Formats: sequence, C-alpha cells, structure tokens
Amino acid sequence: MQTESLQTFVQAAKPHIAHKSPPRSSGIIQIKMKLDATAAQLDAEVVRTSEDIRRRYRENKNWRYHTKEWMYKNIPVQGKDVLDFGCGTGEIATQLAFLGANRVYALDVTPGLLDSTGRRAELDGVSDRVETICGMIQDVEPRPVDVIVAFAVLHHCFPLENIMPSLVRWLKPGGVFVAVEPFVAVETVERLRNVSGVPYEPLDEGERKLNSADLRYVKSHFAKTEEKYFRVLSRFGRLMPAADPLFSRLDRLILALPFASKLAGTAVIVGRQS
Ligand SMILES: C[S@@+](CC[C@H](N)C(=O)[O-])C[C@H]1O[C@@H](n2cnc3c(N)ncnc32)[C@H](O)[C@@H]1O
Repeated sequence: MQTESLQTFVQAAKPHIAHKSPPRSSGIIQIKMKLDATAAQLDAEVVRTSEDIRRRYRENKNWRYHTKEWMYKNIPVQGKDVLDFGCGTGEIATQLAFLGANRVYALDVTPGLLDSTGRRAELDGVSDRVETICGMIQDVEPRPVDVIVAFAVLHHCFPLENIMPSLVRWLKPGGVFVAVEPFVAVETVERLRNVSGVPYEPLDEGERKLNSADLRYVKSHFAKTEEKYFRVLSRFGRLMPAADPLFSRLDRLILALPFASKLAGTAVIVGRQS
C-alpha cells in the first residue's frame, strides 16, 4: 500500500475495524483491521496524480526515509522499459511514466484494477507509455525490460517458486529487479508489533510477510544483490502522523546499528543480473 493511499485505505477500513477488549494484564489496546485489501483498491476513486505528489517524487528529497522514494532514487527509470508487476490501481505505473520511463508494462491479475490503471494513465497524460496486461505473471509471455518493480506483491505470491522463475525471464541482460515487501525476521518482534496498538494493514488469505529464508530465495535468482531495511518505529506514525518524519529519521539511526535489520518491518531487495 502506497503512502498517499494510506489515508484512503484507513478511511475505507474504518467500518471494518474491530476494537477488541484490551488484554486485562497489559492494558494495551489491540486494534485489528479486517479488510480485503484488493476490494479496498477496487473501491478507491481514481484521480489525476496531484501536483504535490508529482513534485514530491521528482524532487525526491526524502529518499533516505521512505521505500518508494529510495527505489526511485536508486533504480532510475529514465528511458527504460519497466515491468510494474502487480500494479494494483496503477499509482506506481503512472509515476514511473512521469519519471521518464520509456514504456511501463502494468501487469495485474485483477481486471478491475487494470481498468483503474488505464484510467489513471489517461488522467496523468501518460497512456501512450503505459500498457496494461491482465494475467498471472506465470501465464504471460515476457517482454524484455530493463527494470522490474514488485511493490508489495511478492507476499501475495506463495510459494515464491511459482513466480520468481517467470519474473526473471522478463529481465534483459544487465537488468534490475526491485521488490519492496513487508518483512519479519523475528516472530517475537512481530507479536509485539501486533499488540502495540498501531493499526496494521490486513493480510488476505494465503498472504504472509516475507522472512529471511524468502529473501535468500529471491536473491538466489540474481548475480548481485542488495538489501535495504525500513520501518522499525515509523509504523507509529500512523497513530501520530505529525511525528512521522521524526520516526522515519529515528529508523535510519536504528537501522545503522549491527543486526538492527532484524527489527525492520519492510525489506527492499534489489537483484541485478550482472
Ligand atoms: C497489495 S497489491 C500491490 C499493488 C501495487 N503494487 C501498490 O503498491 O499499490 C498486490 C497486487 O498483486 C496482484 N497479484 C498478486 N499475485 C499476482 C500474480 N501471480 N500475477 C499478477 N498479479 C498478481 C494482485 O492482484 C494485487 O493487485
């Protein structure tokens, strides 16, 4: 789920929030969002990308603190052919196009989401460079691309053995793969997060956060790999939006410490073929 979608997402989720009684022993309020994430995406209104958001990603001042900005800074797409795997409503697909991608293949298995993506590309004036493709990645004939973006998609796709071989077939020699995924290294940390009182995004049936073994499997498809971790405290920004920049900066300090990646809630995996 992308940052600018979060407010919409939380609004959409409100009727589904189940307020559980706090456990008597801890007094901690536990809030769970029960919601089908795809249904929320299908319900979301498609609007032209605002000037604020365009400027935010063009200027990209906060690339150290946020996953998408980090991706746009470190995996430039200017003049490149890109696959946006699991494009959802197409926010990233159109952003890649207005950041200068030559062609964006926006692929998703859900037809209604591709309608949203096509509509968004039109509203954003980039429909000549965004091609929607409906299907499971496993069933679609690959087009050669320089960059594959998988933003919050792999955790829907277990077992990963079903998709990784199909995905890497899209990459040109020298191409780059980037995935941004919810991550859990230590189950105890995850349990603490889930009773911390911060609303968390729902996982649908069959979804789970990636663990260290999953990361190793994804990386095994590439000659060179890099990992970057985010979101230790910044999750609390959902409770205190005004303090979000502070939490994001604290996260960078924490994540510079040895072994602190074990506390991260989001992993970025970059793979290169050479
Ligand atoms: C959480 S959404 C992420 C959407 C978008 N990348 C974003 O960040 O807003 C995951 C998307 O992956 C799509 N998806 C899951 N498995 C897929 C597969 N095997 N082939 C194509 N799309 C898939 C789903 O339909 C869904 O739209």
